[in-house]
Amino acid sequence: MSPPPPPTMQSGSPPPTQLSPPASNGQQTVVAANEHMIMPVTKRSPTDYIFGKVIGEGSYSTVYLAKDIHTNREHAIKVCEKHQIIREKKREQVRREKDALNILSNSGSSFFVKLYCTFQDAERLYFVMSYAKNGDMLPYINKVGSFDAACTRFYSGEILRALEHLHDLNIMHRDLKPENILLDHNMHIKVADFGCSKIVEQPDTADSDITSTESSVISDDEPRPRSNSFVGTAQYVSPELLTEKSISCSSDLWALGCIIYQMIAGLPPFRSSDLVAFRSEYMLFKKILSLDYEFPDGFNADAKDLVQKLLVLDPNERLGAKDDKRYTSIRSHHFYQDLDFDKLHEMNPPPIYPYLPGNSESQELRSQYRVPDHLEPGLDYRQLTRLLGLDGQSSSTTPAPAPRPRKRAGVLQMSEEEKQHQLQQQKCNNKWHNLVEGNLIVKQGLVDKRKGLFARRRMLCLTMGPHLYYADPTTMSLKGEIPWSPQLRVEPKNFRIFFVHTPNRTYYLEDPEGFALEWCKAIEEMRVLTYGVSTTTCA
Ligand code: ADE
Repeated sequence: MSPPPPPTMQSGSPPPTQLSPPASNGQQTVVAANEHMIMPVTKRSPTDYIFGKVIGEGSYSTVYLAKDIHTNREHAIKVCEKHQIIREKKREQVRREKDALNILSNSGSSFFVKLYCTFQDAERLYFVMSYAKNGDMLPYINKVGSFDAACTRFYSGEILRALEHLHDLNIMHRDLKPENILLDHNMHIKVADFGCSKIVEQPDTADSDITSTESSVISDDEPRPRSNSFVGTAQYVSPELLTEKSISCSSDLWALGCIIYQMIAGLPPFRSSDLVAFRSEYMLFKKILSLDYEFPDGFNADAKDLVQKLLVLDPNERLGAKDDKRYTSIRSHHFYQDLDFDKLHEMNPPPIYPYLPGNSESQELRSQYRVPDHLEPGLDYRQLTRLLGLDGQSSSTTPAPAPRPRKRAGVLQMSEEEKQHQLQQQKCNNKWHNLVEGNLIVKQGLVDKRKGLFARRRMLCLTMGPHLYYADPTTMSLKGEIPWSPQLRVEPKNFRIFFVHTPNRTYYLEDPEGFALEWCKAIEEMRVLTYGVSTTTCA
């Protein structure tokens, strides 16, 4: 593990160890003057960059946000520790990544991170790449639970375009997953992480820099991995990569099918919840090999048909596998009707907003709330009034439940002595007491917590602190906590459904008894009690 990065931006200090001076043996490959122009320049070294925060970490590398002191441009610089590459036998992986990125950087597509240059010093290898300002796609899926059809169409369309380009260059990615789909400042994709990639018809890659010339670092004494050994990430790996039968670009089409499923449903199709890691992976592989997955209720019908045609065990039978150059059979699938694939890179991407997909019991719901770039009043009382039907024109189809007696306001204004007394009572009488870390419960109740199209019943406990704990009511085990901050906001959608927005995630909760508005009021009162009546959120 590398020591922590420098707290402030520092020029020229190789980030992991501040003391080592930049080596004079830095070797130069290429640098791009702009996104599409690659030209040789004079030697680069760590002193040409100001290293800032860590934006990614791997087993032998750390990615830093860095600024080129000559151009003032921001870059993502992947710094690989030579001794760790050797110790973890990752020589081949580093070589692959550099070869693939070099080919792609010369190819003029905007759908990939660009490799501007590489250099090294005594201890490290440096990959200077384009910086994708909005990070990777996974937190976006997790934040909103699932994408709506327009977002799924757009982003899977861009991924398809990237795959067309990649496969046309005879490169297989082999580790395609939401974490490797980065988003640039305009929210267009940049596919990254080519450590598992394979160039099918190996062009002459015996160039003269890091991976081939420095025999002390990347010598050829490391055994090459078996050509068909399992690479990639378990949840997205294709059956043929597991059974080592064959490898082809079709493996990336399988991963595309998994990603489309995840965008729509909120979770990838093949999952295992076994707590023991190796058993979990074994279960997962069994599921992949037997095509054991299901579509949750409410899955978009066209997307379902597309996913079914991509998640096919025989790689030759996957949609697109027999296409030449472009994936015309995928492009012409009904799910992509009206999508102009050739204009995607010029289009404004659809916004990724909190959205609850509908299923057979509920209709889809869109959030009015915009995070983090909007300032919002805490609880919209006008909306509450409307939802409660007090404005004479109820917007909810769900009948209003009879109001419950309210004890909460009292609890929030209790003296310390009274609180201690209540806590004692809670300890003796409330079976959830042990799960809430000794905090006084203000409100509790069963809710269905939705993530995309999946729902789980949870006991939700709002406590002093404040905390919002949720627990599995069957096993009586704590499952997590909705993180509190002054930015937390509730949004009632109807008498059953309410959203809890936090900076990193929107939680979709459904009170089967229809007391969503009570939850919203209790949470909002707690927010005001804790943080004051501020009506604004920070971006
Ligand atoms: N994390 C890893 N590589 C990155 C890049 N090029 N841009 C942003 N974040 C990254």
